Amino acid sequence: MAEANVSVKLRIEELSEEMWKKNPFFEVARTSKLPPSSLRKYLSGLEMLFKASYRNLSLAADKASANGDEELARFFSAKRDEELGHDQWARDDLKFVSAPEKGSMPKVQPESAQFICDFGHYLADLDPFYYLGYVSFAEYMTTYLGPRFLECTSENGLDKSKISALSNHVVLDVGHAEENFELIESRFQDPAVRDRFNSVVQQSSILLSAFFEECARE
Ligand SMILES: [Fe+2]
Repeated sequence: MAEANVSVKLRIEELSEEMWKKNPFFEVARTSKLPPSSLRKYLSGLEMLFKASYRNLSLAADKASANGDEELARFFSAKRDEELGHDQWARDDLKFVSAPEKGSMPKVQPESAQFICDFGHYLADLDPFYYLGYVSFAEYMTTYLGPRFLECTSENGLDKSKISALSNHVVLDVGHAEENFELIESRFQDPAVRDRFNSVVQQSSILLSAFFEECARE
């Protein structure tokens, strides 16, 4: 593995560790059972993000194809096809979360999740390769932090089968993250491209941190 590629992977690990230690959502998950309000926001946000990923991956594939970059177009098309129906996992999980009042289940749409959807659209439209910066961060962070998060929630009385939107991805995204790093490595010769890509990774971390923080707020 080339050094530049290793550094993206290590940078995602560092950013994930920081999130794990400092973000209030993970702090709560480590020490107690996530309250239904947090869980509802988290799962509703994931549903939004997975739906947007399908659209943004389609856009990235189309843009890459229009740019004559067939390798990247095939890569995003395959990812898009794998993504189909993942939002249903989040909707299924939401059925287990109790409503704040009997008989009512207001639609929760975390604002920060909407920012992430818009950010993905902006990147996919601007230059699909940089959209891979967001995708790589999201997928690798999921496999990196997901197992310990699920262990904590399970210890605190929330079985991983009730967070299938995450637990299914923890399994799937291991292979995905490795494929991402291989493609990044093959395109990382230009230092300007590498710098810009790394800045997308950093921005993705900030936006996802904001989403988790919003989930932790009452
Ligand atoms: Fe997915």
